[in-house]
Amino acid sequence: MLPQEFIYQLKQANPIEQVMGSYVQLIRAGSLLKCNCPFHSEKTPSCVVYADTQDPHFYCFGCHAGGDVISFIRQIEGIGYMDAVRMLAERAGMTVPSQSQDNREENMRMRLLELNRAAANYYYKQLTGPDKRGLVYLKERALRPDIIKKYGLGFAGEQWDGLLNAMKNLGFTDEELLAANLCSRSQKTGNLYDRFRSRVIFPIIDLRGNVIAFGGRTIEKDGEPKYLNSSDTPVFKKGRNLFSMNFAKKSQSKRLILAEGYMDVIAVHQAGFENVVASLGTALTPDQCRLMRQYADEVVISYDSDAAGQNATVKAVNLLRAVGLRPRILHMHDAKDPDEYIKKFGAPYFRKLLEDADDALTYELQRCRDGTDPESEDGTITALHKAVSVLAGITNEMERNVYLSRVAKDYDINTQLLEAQVDREIKKRKNSAKKQDWQNRVSLLRPRDPVNPEASQHQKEATAEEYILCYLFRQPDALESVMERIKPEEFVTEFHRRVYEKLAEMLKQGYDFSLSLFSGEDFTPDETGRITGIPAKYDEIDISPQTVEDCIRTLKQRPMQDVDMSTLSDADASAFFAQIRQNKR
Ligand code: UTP
Ligand code: MN
Repeated sequence: MLPQEFIYQLKQANPIEQVMGSYVQLIRAGSLLKCNCPFHSEKTPSCVVYADTQDPHFYCFGCHAGGDVISFIRQIEGIGYMDAVRMLAERAGMTVPSQSQDNREENMRMRLLELNRAAANYYYKQLTGPDKRGLVYLKERALRPDIIKKYGLGFAGEQWDGLLNAMKNLGFTDEELLAANLCSRSQKTGNLYDRFRSRVIFPIIDLRGNVIAFGGRTIEKDGEPKYLNSSDTPVFKKGRNLFSMNFAKKSQSKRLILAEGYMDVIAVHQAGFENVVASLGTALTPDQCRLMRQYADEVVISYDSDAAGQNATVKAVNLLRAVGLRPRILHMHDAKDPDEYIKKFGAPYFRKLLEDADDALTYELQRCRDGTDPESEDGTITALHKAVSVLAGITNEMERNVYLSRVAKDYDINTQLLEAQVDREIKKRKNSAKKQDWQNRVSLLRPRDPVNPEASQHQKEATAEEYILCYLFRQPDALESVMERIKPEEFVTEFHRRVYEKLAEMLKQGYDFSLSLFSGEDFTPDETGRITGIPAKYDEIDISPQTVEDCIRTLKQRPMQDVDMSTLSDADASAFFAQIRQNKR
C-alpha cells in the first residue's frame, strides 16, 4: 500500500487535463473540457474531463469509461496500478516510496504483538495478585491450574488504568495501546482507560504462537456485555481465526470439534479432547472453514442446544460442506452447552456423544419434522416436502438412495413414489440453476450500466426505446401519433420511461424541443449526459416511421416471452392470447 499522502501529491503533480491532453485533443466547451473518447470510437466528443473539481476525473457518456488520472493511464496504457503510478511519478520527477511504508506497517505489527504478549503476561500475573476474584471465578468454573496456565488465562481488575500504567512503564505508547484495542480514549477527558475491567481474560493465540487478541468474560453477575472481544486490529482479523486452533492442530486428529464459546472449548479440552475450536464471537465464516479444512476431514458441530445454537448449526453445516468438510452434529440432552454437559455427566459420556454424533443429513432429515404434528396428515405432508428437498440436495447418488429408503421407511410410504418426487425436485433445481447460470453469464458479459440498470436485462427493448426517443428528438411533431400507439407504462426500462414522460409533458405544455429540457432537477447529471448522448449515438442512422413501428411492436410483444402459460388461469390465458393477436395486427 502506498501512503495516501504520496498519491495526493502524485495527482497534484499530474493534472488530469495535461496528462489526457498528451493522448487526445481536448476541446474547451464552455466551462467543460471534452474530447473524443479514446476508449471507444466516436465522431462527436462524449468524454468529459472534470479538471477543476476537488477530485479531478474524466467520464465518457458513451462507453462509461471513467476515473482519475491514475486510472486513465492504466486504461490507456493497459498496465497495472503500480506501473501507472511509476509512470506518472517519472513524468513528474517524483520517487515512488519503496518498501519504507511496508516496513513501517511491519514494525507496527511487531510492536502490537509485543504489546499483546506483555499484556497477556500482565493479566496472567493479576490472577495471583491481591484481587483474587478472577482466580476464584475460574476455580468455580472447575478449571484446573494446569489448564489455566496452558491457555494463559488471566484477570483484569476493576481499576481503569491498571494495564495502561503497566504497559506505559514498559515503554508502549498511547497510539499502540489504542491500535491493539486494549485501551479506549475517554470522550470527556481525552485520557486513555483500560477496556477490560473486572473480567477474566482469554488470550487468542495464532498458529505461530503470537498473542493476537483477547476475549474477556465479566465476573459480575449481570455484567454487560458478558463477553468483550478485541475488535479487528492490524494483527487480528476476527473472521480468519479460531480460538484454540493452536492446540487443536497439534492433536493430529482428522476430526475437529466446533463449539460456540471460549468456556466450552476449554472445558472440552480439559476433558481430554484437544481437537476443539470455536469461532470467535461471530458466526462461522468461510475463511474459518478453510482453516479447519487444512487440518481435518470432519467437523463435529457442538453448538448450544437452544434455538439460536440449532439455527447456527444449519448454517455451519452448509459452510463446512462448501469447503469439503464432512459435518456431523452432536446432540446434547439436559445441558445447554458442552461445558455444562461435561460438568454434569463427565468426560466418558461426552466421548459417547461424540461417537454418536449424527451425520448432518440424518440431523437435517430429523429437523424436517420440527414444528409439524406427526399425527396429522398435514403435518406429515409438510415434513415430507421438506425431506424431499433435503434428499434432492444430496449429490452422491448412492448416498441419496440410502437416505431415500430410510425416509420411505420412516414415513411408511412407497419408495418409488418418493423417488419420483425427489427426481422431479432435482430436475427443477437443475433447470433453475441453468437459467441462473445463463443469466449470470449474460449480465457478466454486458457492462454494468448505472444510469439504466434495467437495460442489461432487456437489451432489445432498451434499444427499441432509444430509437423511439431519438426519433422524437428529431421529429417532435410526431409525438402525438407515437403517444397514441405506445403509452409510457409500456416502456420496459424505467429510465427511458421517465424520459418519454418528460418529453411528452414538455411538448404538451408548448415548449419547443431542446435537450436542455432534460437538464433540470428531474434528472441527475449522469442521466442528463446519457439523454444528451441519445441523438449523438444514432447520428448516422436514419430512423424511419417504419423503424419506429417495429420498435413499438418490440415493446408490445414482450409479454409473450415473460408469461409462464402454465401459471395462468383460463380467463387470463384467453385475454393474453387476445392481446397477442391484437399486437400482431
Ligand atoms: P454464550 O452466551 O453461549 O456463552 O456465548 P458461554 O460460552 O456459554 O459462556 P458462559 O458459559 O456463560 O461463560 C457463546 C460465545 O459467544 C460469544 C463468546 O465468544 C462466547 O463464548 N459472545 C457471547 C460474545 O462475544 N459476547 C457476548 O456478550 C456473549
Ligand atoms: Mn456456557
